[in-house]
Amino acid sequence: MGVSLPSSLLFMVAFLFAVSFVLAFPEVAGAKATTNQAGVTRHYKFEIRLKNVTRLCHTKSMVTVNGKFPGPRVVAREGDRLVVKVVNHVPNNISIHWHGVRQIRSGWADGPSYITQCPIQSGQSYVYNFTIVGQRGTLFWHAHFSWLRASVYGPLIIFPKKNASYPFVKPYKEVSILFGEWWNADPEAVISQSLQTGAGPNVSDAYTFNGRPGPLYNCSQNETYRLKVKPGKTYLLRLVNAALNDELFFSVANHSLTVVEADAVYVKPFQTNLLVIAPGQTTNVLLKTKPQFPNATFFMLARPYFTGMGTFDNSTVAGILEYEDPLNSSSSTSSTPPLRPTLPPINATSAVANFSSRIKSLNSAKFPANVPQTVQKHFFFTVGLGSNPCPKNQTCQGPNNRTKFSASVNNISFALPSTALLQAHFFGRSNGVYSTDFPTSPLQPFNYTGTPPNNTNVANGTKVVVIPYNTSVELVLQDTSILGAESHPLHLHGFNFYIVGQGFGNFNPNKDPANFNLVDPAERNTVGVPSGGWVAIRFLTDNPGVWLMHCHFDVHLSWGLRMAWVVQDGKLPNQKLPPPPSDLPKC
Ligand code: C2O
Repeated sequence: MGVSLPSSLLFMVAFLFAVSFVLAFPEVAGAKATTNQAGVTRHYKFEIRLKNVTRLCHTKSMVTVNGKFPGPRVVAREGDRLVVKVVNHVPNNISIHWHGVRQIRSGWADGPSYITQCPIQSGQSYVYNFTIVGQRGTLFWHAHFSWLRASVYGPLIIFPKKNASYPFVKPYKEVSILFGEWWNADPEAVISQSLQTGAGPNVSDAYTFNGRPGPLYNCSQNETYRLKVKPGKTYLLRLVNAALNDELFFSVANHSLTVVEADAVYVKPFQTNLLVIAPGQTTNVLLKTKPQFPNATFFMLARPYFTGMGTFDNSTVAGILEYEDPLNSSSSTSSTPPLRPTLPPINATSAVANFSSRIKSLNSAKFPANVPQTVQKHFFFTVGLGSNPCPKNQTCQGPNNRTKFSASVNNISFALPSTALLQAHFFGRSNGVYSTDFPTSPLQPFNYTGTPPNNTNVANGTKVVVIPYNTSVELVLQDTSILGAESHPLHLHGFNFYIVGQGFGNFNPNKDPANFNLVDPAERNTVGVPSGGWVAIRFLTDNPGVWLMHCHFDVHLSWGLRMAWVVQDGKLPNQKLPPPPSDLPKC
């Protein structure tokens, strides 16, 4: 035979493993997997390619992964290693971020351009290599360069470890629904024009469910997302808000949802007819279908929550929930129009606060909420808009028609460096790249949510907070009313945090902490700072590296609403960031 016994045995084992893997995750046929001690290693290849896509009767060439929009699903179990080779075949620079993955001591794989890596240039490639530790649920991945995530995003699904089960009823079926935004124009042109003129960017033309705008838009009937269900079953919906600039309300006609997980952390289950989901947030909900075939179809709707002063896309995306007719065996093509859920008004801040206050950590013996009970370092950051003066010999169309829109944290609009912060930090070459004087609180305090000050100018710079390993941090994020109070979905890379308190108006350090929840607060990676209010979060700096924190509205991110934490190495070998991989892109 020419094949020695051991190697044929090995082949058998590998084959059986591959078969069982495909059976367990039919959706990931195409991903290669090999075993290691703890979990398995799963290999993916992302080819960044241009692809023509048509929506709303507009065809455009856009940047995609493997020609797919939305992009391919990445699946793993808790404890698995993911190895994703990204090859850039488009003219744009790009990098990929694994949104919500803790990246413990694997910061080189986090992905934000100019923070943990230089972008992957045209014709180049980079291998993201990281392990999923202590997380299970729904996250997503997206491009982290300019506005490329408008078309470069996809679900990242983490199943529990083998033989571990969900802390809720086993669903009959699992479905991912990604909320996105569609521009008839090229989003890269939209943001570059805004940065040039200083005006707010043109808004999107539609919202989408899994890339489909649905029947409420012109020329979109054939691009409708349909969820086909059987009566009497429980479905797990994995919801992701991958929209660029809009928090969304979501509701399904005549069906309530049970929220069971948020940002890949189990929560105390609760029922609701209304979901609020900010860009960067993910949540798993159970949908129990009606016991009998209902002879009707149901709209699933999403539209924005917005309180700011600028313009926004106030359109509504619709998908259709339809039951399989048990007699007809085909789907119900009922002639009556789908039933509609009611959504709150666009500016329903109280509905948002009510929803977010219901999210609590499961805090069970198996999934405890490890809230830092004491605080070593306090920070107070304002977040909001501002302006930059118009450069000489230019006309600007931002605030007052003579400035440029900007956005800031503690009035500092973060300027991207031309090399990656993490490299500068790791190799001790921060000089000329960043300074370490990011203020722990505003340099000039004012009435943050009162009548805004006349001078709305921001400072610009690349400033970071340097903090020792294993420090317990409390950070209060305070919205400002400068150029309009507005909710800001703040996302922290490299950590989950506990949302210990929130409120409206100005944070009061003497009164508010008494009401903090230090028992079972929500644990997330993205929190909506209430419009005209504040939120307090706690986390432990147990992950060495450089970690970006920013508003997950891409428009605010582009305007500078971002900063970075430099978490130093700990003393023990397993508390240090290893050196970068050899293929780390160069600027
Ligand atoms: Cu979802 Cu810094 O990103």
